[in-house]
Amino acid sequence: MARGSRGQAGHRGKRMGEESKGITDVYMDTAKILYKFANHQGGLKALALSDEAVQSNKTATYSLAFNTLLRYKSLMAVAPAVPMLPDTQSEFFFLHLVLLYEGLCGKGINNQERRRRKLNSTTRAAYKSVLMVVDDIKADFPTKPTEDEAAFQRAIDRAHHFPRSLRVNPTVLTRNQALGLYANAKPDPVLPDVLLAPKDTPIRDDKNVASGAVTVQSRASCLPVSALFDVVDRDKERYVGSVLDFCAAPGNKTTHAAVRLAQAVLGKGLRAKGGNKSVRKVYSVTLNEIDPRRAELAEKLTAPVTATLPAAVRVVARVGSCLDLTCAPVEGCEPPTLCVVDPSCSSSGVVGNPDKRFGAMFGETTDLAGLAEFQHSCLTHAMGLETVQAIAYSTCSVHDEENEEVVRRALQTVPGWKPAYPLSAWERRGHGDDEVARCSIKTDPEQDQTDGFYVCVLVRDVPEDED
Ligand SMILES: C[S@@+](CC[C@H](N)C(=O)[O-])C[C@H]1O[C@@H](n2cnc3c(N)ncnc32)[C@H](O)[C@@H]1O
Repeated sequence: MARGSRGQAGHRGKRMGEESKGITDVYMDTAKILYKFANHQGGLKALALSDEAVQSNKTATYSLAFNTLLRYKSLMAVAPAVPMLPDTQSEFFFLHLVLLYEGLCGKGINNQERRRRKLNSTTRAAYKSVLMVVDDIKADFPTKPTEDEAAFQRAIDRAHHFPRSLRVNPTVLTRNQALGLYANAKPDPVLPDVLLAPKDTPIRDDKNVASGAVTVQSRASCLPVSALFDVVDRDKERYVGSVLDFCAAPGNKTTHAAVRLAQAVLGKGLRAKGGNKSVRKVYSVTLNEIDPRRAELAEKLTAPVTATLPAAVRVVARVGSCLDLTCAPVEGCEPPTLCVVDPSCSSSGVVGNPDKRFGAMFGETTDLAGLAEFQHSCLTHAMGLETVQAIAYSTCSVHDEENEEVVRRALQTVPGWKPAYPLSAWERRGHGDDEVARCSIKTDPEQDQTDGFYVCVLVRDVPEDED
């Protein structure tokens, strides 16, 4: 169990000696998190790791919340046997469920602490109810996960074993230099600025990551900008210009575009801020995001990389809808010629996405048609910007409805564009037998060791003699 509460048992030992915080607090905090999750107040990890309501060990809380939800259906099947079980899904209800999980699937309910500490009467009542029946239920409870639960756990484990993908900032390091910094890392077979390192490569306190020389970014997420600049680098005269990143937070593709643009503008050999003095034009990379909090986070996360950029390339944050973006240049900068359109999607390609799976148990649905409509609006808006010459459209969805079909419809809505064929060494292409399918890039989690993803680069279809 990669994220099992058993695996986190060490936290429990550490906390047991403390008078004020203990496993009881983990149980209660987990119940609070589950209640908020069930009421669509946030993603499970975000709630457990950042919610101020979690006063106990956050990792242990996430782990217990995850495991309780993993066995939710099995637990719900036996929960009616618990006396006085609340009939609404309150925090109190989830406390019963967490205790039931611990009693049936975990190491057992920690009852000593309950005796030692002064718990409030409600918490005490939940303990009492569950303890009263747990041994009886245990006899018939399937301790092994069902096939469906096990399949989901396998998907999570698979994602845990994807290699660590490290994107090298070419304004600071060459890929060969970076290879020397990470033991057992290998160059990505297709992406020119990516290294694939063993999953356990430590990156938490990595000084190259802290300095913006290296960015930890999934292989799939590196594809859109890699594909876009594969096209740009074939004809810099035509394509090099400012970039609009439509839906940018948390900003991984923004920094990828910024460093590839810097590389395209200034060429190899650039090492220091300021760079080649003969380059006078200044290019902007607009980090556009509708959610102010996400925009603020993106600015913070992108700061180390933006600090490495030469004076010729500036990242400029904008809070607002991408549908209001225009091709008016940022003051002092070149007009936009490139767009990165990576809109909100179903995230169905994210391997072992707990929020998707668990959210569905609490009535969360995915409006694919609504998402496709929004994606179409974003893409056609980019295609309608006069100065724009090339666009990378991408999603982390596996549904054709959000991918090839959005692109096909956009090409009909805004004439004068065509798909380009980037990253020729990438094997997996789109569904269908047209140009969109041939040119699209797709990932297969098994074969490509990354999340399911889709990219299509569109270029303005200029007449031959102008090409
Ligand atoms: C898939 S995420 C983008 C990930 C990002 N491109 C990256 O690689 O780090 C989609 C983002 O679009 C934002 N968003 C949604 N609607 C938007 C709109 N109308 N205009 C701008 N951003 C929007 C969401 O808040 C979310 O942060």
